[in-house]
Amino acid sequence: MPPVALASNKAFGLRSFNNFWLDWRDGCLASPRFQSWAARFPLTRFMARREARALFDLCAGFVYAQVLASCIELDLFETLARQPTSAAVLAARHRIPVAAMLMLLNAAVSLRLLSRQGEAFRLGPLGAALRGNLGISAMVAHHRMFYADLADPVALLRGQAETQLGQFWPYRGSAGQSAAYSALMAVSQPMVAREILAAYRFNGHRVLMDVGGGDGSFLRLLAPHAPDLQLRLFDLPPVAEAATLAFERDHLSGRAQVYGGDFARDELPKGADIMTLIRVLHDHPDERALQILKSVRSALPPKGVLLLAEPMAGTKGAEPVGDAYFGFYLLAMGSGRARRPAEIHAMLAEAGFSKVRQIPTSQPMLTCLIIAHAIT
Ligand SMILES: C[S@@+](CC[C@H](N)C(=O)[O-])C[C@H]1O[C@@H](n2cnc3c(N)ncnc32)[C@H](O)[C@@H]1O
Repeated sequence: MPPVALASNKAFGLRSFNNFWLDWRDGCLASPRFQSWAARFPLTRFMARREARALFDLCAGFVYAQVLASCIELDLFETLARQPTSAAVLAARHRIPVAAMLMLLNAAVSLRLLSRQGEAFRLGPLGAALRGNLGISAMVAHHRMFYADLADPVALLRGQAETQLGQFWPYRGSAGQSAAYSALMAVSQPMVAREILAAYRFNGHRVLMDVGGGDGSFLRLLAPHAPDLQLRLFDLPPVAEAATLAFERDHLSGRAQVYGGDFARDELPKGADIMTLIRVLHDHPDERALQILKSVRSALPPKGVLLLAEPMAGTKGAEPVGDAYFGFYLLAMGSGRARRPAEIHAMLAEAGFSKVRQIPTSQPMLTCLIIAHAIT
């Protein structure tokens, strides 16, 4: 028998053994008798409880998210950061019955958002961390729309639902909508910018063009770290106007040039030796995403650099963030998808980039970073 046939027989044998083992395991896990044995047997008890808890958390996750949403809407994290406070005082302040307020506070304690000191409640570790990132509270408040869109997830998957996030998505809407969307992006940008600035040195570059740069939040955060860098931004005209005003407010007009346009139709201006796409590519379907990469490639000089940053699917240790959260978020938004780094690498190669490499970040769950060079 030729060696190739031997190898494929071996692979087939391994696969069928693996399937046999998985079928056996699934049968055991589904059996109430096995479950109750595993929950009692000392060597499996810990695992059985952990798995049962994980399954319950999946069933109840939507309630946990609403506990967080209530705390944010009632501004409890700010209130309790100023002063530990009792349920009775908070109940009176927010016109909520004491028993219901107590239930909310205890729920938040169970989720480590708050903690309890006698009669008073104060911040818990997650509540305290949340205060350091304004972007999280803004996203949670904005989730009200996403939550409504998820009420019938199968209709959403079938593309039958008119979604609230789709309406909010400003690219086809009014200037007012784009201001609300840009404000949301701006408030979450510091978390992303921190990751990028810690991972990449911009000092070796002369001119940076931030494509889809929103109201300029990233460039304005970057400016003090690379004082000699000329800043350019390209975005849809109403967003570009907001960026111009923001640069004026931050006394950066001398260093910053803003271009209003549509990267689906217009060529990107040349002249930058580095271009950034931050949280842009995942908003667009594959064909458009490839076209954006090709436009960036055409605007860059030979050896010019593209820095691409966004949350990606399949991120080790944070798989549900890219695959579940962003998967459904972009579906509800009605455009784009979270991609795996390997998919983006392939698109970059097709668009005319080489030396594509991923740079590690400290929070890959939020921001993965890819650097690519324009082929000479
Ligand atoms: C998710 S936001 C990211 C904004 C910013 N890069 C950030 O990370 O905060 C996507 C940006 O792409 C811009 N955008 C979307 N479609 C565009 C188009 N066809 N032409 C130019 N900009 C576009 C949006 O206006 C928005 O500012």
